Order: sequence, then C-alpha cells, then structure tokens
Amino acid sequence: MAKLILIGFMGSGKTTIGRLLAEKLAIPQLDLDALIVQENKQSINDIFTEVGEEHFRKMETVALKKAINQNVVLSTGGGAPIKKLNQTILKSVDAPIVFLNAEFKTIEKRINRDASWPLLKRIAELKQRYIKQNFIYRDLADIEITTDRKSPDLIVEAILEKYDEI
Ligand code: S3P
Repeated sequence: MAKLILIGFMGSGKTTIGRLLAEKLAIPQLDLDALIVQENKQSINDIFTEVGEEHFRKMETVALKKAINQNVVLSTGGGAPIKKLNQTILKSVDAPIVFLNAEFKTIEKRINRDASWPLLKRIAELKQRYIKQNFIYRDLADIEITTDRKSPDLIVEAILEKYDEI
C-alpha cells in the first residue's frame, strides 16, 4: 500500500518533493504520470493530442489502481484527485494525503519554464482550474503545506514533521 500520497496543482512540486520524501523514508517513489507513460509507451503530451483528455483520465484511473497498492511515496498528476472514483481510490489506503499548495503566481512561473504540460495550451482555463481544484485538494488532504518561497528540503522537513504526528 502507498505510504504517503502527494496531491496538488501542476507545478506544485509533487515529483521533486516525492523523490526527496522517498529517499528519506527509504522506499521508492512512484510518479503516476511516469507510470502512465511507461504503461502506454507514449508521452502525456502525445496522449492528450492523440486520444484526448477524456481517454487520458481513464488511463489515469487504471494506473492509480495499480499504484495505490505499492509500497511507495505516490506523486499524483494534478488532475487525478478531481474524479470521484479516484478520490475513493486515494482514500482506500491508510496513507496520509499531502496537499502541496503554491500560489498561482509561483505555479505560472514554474510551468512557463516547461512547455511539455499539455494543459498549458489553454492558459486562460488554468486559473479557473486552479481555484476549483484547490478546494478539492484541501478537502481531501490530511496535511497541507504551503510551498512558496520554501526550499525543497524545508518542505520535506515540514511534511515529515506532520507525518510523524499522524
Ligand atoms: C494534469 C497534470 C499533469 C498531468 C497532465 C494533466 C492536470 O501532472 O497529469 O498533464 O490535469 O492537472 P502534474 O501535476 O504532475 O504536472
């Protein structure tokens, strides 16, 4: 079963923080997007272009069902916790769900550096998604960490402190 689950908007640092947490907890990290890429032998961007977001969401649920049963730190994609079925899957294991919260300004800066985000093409929608999704993340999470102006090491330390309390 997953030991710790990271959720948050794209660019909130789930992959980086997940890797560092996994090192500290001495278990592997599993990045849900990476698993989708590996299983489907296609980049996330290509999946969005070729079969569309709706189909991607189905692949994401399939991958999540696999990932949740592994002894890992699980970094989810930003959209994964939005679907009700995925929320049920995420809550089905006894792992703290950690919401990495970053200001929209910070997110924008980070994703502008990386053109591989398929949703970046619809930048106008992004802020609306951000607002809506942050409510869902907050509702789902056991731990919320604000990441703006904090180094990855500091974020990891803050999570582990709260993780010990749970
Ligand atoms: C998405 C976030 C991405 C990836 C896909 C869709 C989203 O993951 O799953 O591009 O809907 O927010 P990251 O949050 O890891 O970038």
